[in-house]
Amino acid sequence: MSAANNKPTGKRVGRYDLITPMLPVKDEIVAKFEKILLSGHYILGEEVRLLEEELAEACGVPAAVGVASGSSALFVALAMAGVRPGHEVITTPYTFDATMEAIILLDAVPVFVDIRPSDLTIDPDRIEAAITDKTRAIMPVPIFGAPCEMHRIDAIAAEHGLEVVVDMAQAFGTIYDGQPMGSYGRMSTLSFYPTKNLPGIGDGGMVFCRDKRDADRIRKIRGHQAVRANNHLYTGWNSRLDEIQAMVIRVRHAHFDDEQRDRNQVAEIYDSYIPAANRLQLPNEGRGMHVTHHQYWVRCRDRDGLQKLLDSNGIDTAVYYDPPLHKHELSVYCRNVGELTAAEQAGRDILILPIHAALPFEDAHRIGALVQGFLQNEAAQAES
Ligand SMILES: Cc1ncc(COP(=O)(O)O)c(C=O)c1O
Repeated sequence: MSAANNKPTGKRVGRYDLITPMLPVKDEIVAKFEKILLSGHYILGEEVRLLEEELAEACGVPAAVGVASGSSALFVALAMAGVRPGHEVITTPYTFDATMEAIILLDAVPVFVDIRPSDLTIDPDRIEAAITDKTRAIMPVPIFGAPCEMHRIDAIAAEHGLEVVVDMAQAFGTIYDGQPMGSYGRMSTLSFYPTKNLPGIGDGGMVFCRDKRDADRIRKIRGHQAVRANNHLYTGWNSRLDEIQAMVIRVRHAHFDDEQRDRNQVAEIYDSYIPAANRLQLPNEGRGMHVTHHQYWVRCRDRDGLQKLLDSNGIDTAVYYDPPLHKHELSVYCRNVGELTAAEQAGRDILILPIHAALPFEDAHRIGALVQGFLQNEAAQAES
């Protein structure tokens, strides 16, 4: 338990605290910053190389490539997986815009299938109905850090000759069946955006590759070199990671397990107040599954009422993906398969509670108790 978690501040409870986890490593970061500043080597140097090695090892893959952002990682990974104009990529509508944007930028078609209400990830039972002769890839998203059903998804992909690219922007540290999320799929992509669990102090991303040849190609492309792959000549462009970001991420990675322990503790406190039906439920709970808790969500019929109650008690919360992507203006470029009611329901019902490594446990208890009381009232009203 970190010292930060023993001290309730009495101030408004924010959803994130980007500064407190930096304090114990501030001097180390400043010293390393000065070294980089005076080295004159600012982009794609030793820090990036070491970060790639360390995170590839952490994710159990032979190679990882640092790139400019999680969005850029998605774009380049899909391109290297052979997604070309007119192809279709099956994915979830209950995710951040970047998932869909990368597909659209390749002139391919995002194909949305519904999610499972229990964990808000793509429902594997609905994927096969979405496959056509244009389908090239499946892109699961371990949303809020919950593992997707990777064995089922891999089996479907293998049967139909499809690629799997995992958008694990929110899921560094998530484990599915004993293996890191980053070890699944042909490639998986990560974001180092400052609010992510493993953050930089600016933009950054990474592609984890099961095949070193994909990594070699991405290394060329990110530095303006053309590449021949998938019977196509790809242009290079700028998708480089800089030394300052890589250095900060490496320093934070050394503290990742401690921070995750504190996040897990907050999640356990919330779990003790919130009925199972109103929160994340993992299939095969405990059997090789671990959630990284990028966000902690609660499902509530009067979501706006709960948000108001928490706000009036000085607690910040958030609503995400309401409406989901298939209701956005860009959905003209997309195709829906079947009803997407679980995604729409999640958009209406899900509220994101504060969770971060510096959240005082007393605050987590207070928030949990408020949510519990609200849900009990709601249940009593529904019965009467
Ligand atoms: C699911 C998902 N995919 C992709 C991204 C894009 O990452 P970045 O902001 O680093 O481009 C994000 C970032 O929030 C995300 O949450």
